[in-house]
Amino acid sequence: MQRNPRDLQRYTASERANHWAVGICFILLALSGLAFFHPAFFPLTQLFGGGPWTRILHPYIGLLMSAGFVMMFLRFWRLNVIEARDKEWLKNVRKMVDGNDHDMPEQGKYNGGQKVLFWGLVICMALLLISGVLMWRAWFNLPVTLVRLASVLHAVAAVGMIGLIILHVYAAIWTRGTIRAMLYGTVTRAWAKQHHRGWYREQTGDNR
Ligand code: HEM
Repeated sequence: MQRNPRDLQRYTASERANHWAVGICFILLALSGLAFFHPAFFPLTQLFGGGPWTRILHPYIGLLMSAGFVMMFLRFWRLNVIEARDKEWLKNVRKMVDGNDHDMPEQGKYNGGQKVLFWGLVICMALLLISGVLMWRAWFNLPVTLVRLASVLHAVAAVGMIGLIILHVYAAIWTRGTIRAMLYGTVTRAWAKQHHRGWYREQTGDNR
């Protein structure tokens, strides 16, 4: 892709590689997890070499995603601390959804919605990891009541995570010029000024 030297760097190559590794693990986990969830999805096990292989691989991919997610958490948590201006943004979120976003409060690198989504993902990931380990009978033989409770928690957290990621991908596509941030690492100045003016001012020193 032709780069404009005036574009702003939003993600480094290692941040992008980390993000996509987590994204690929998420897709594999959602497909294999749905196969266990309902018989209608069982044919998805063919993608992983059949039922037993799907059952063996799913928890290991879960560990990989958790490790990648912890790395991402360490990179991004400070940028996702919720501030007064984010609460103001969240109060006005309806205007944003209606496409009437010209007088939304100024935002830093991430807006209030992205930050709430970030912490939602953190909660779902933690619940998925804890409940997943508790029900991993190949390694731990815990009391059946605990395994059953963990299974319910795992399903609830998985539905939460899938819902949040659908929202995340929808918002990334809906806000034109965002996907390229995670593909090439850069965004245009116009994009930054419109959606994250505080971050734009920090990056460029342009205070107009
Ligand atoms: C698989 C499809 C996915 C797509 C198309 C996608 C797309 C994107 C894009 C375009 C950005 C940049 C947004 C910006 O800079 O404003 C981003 C950021 C991010 N994504 Fe994804 N993503 C996907 C999956 C995931 C998954 C599975 C996770 C974690 C469970 C995730 C977590 C994040 C985080 C933490 C950020 C940084 C934003 C923040 O800290 O609030 N993404 N994603």
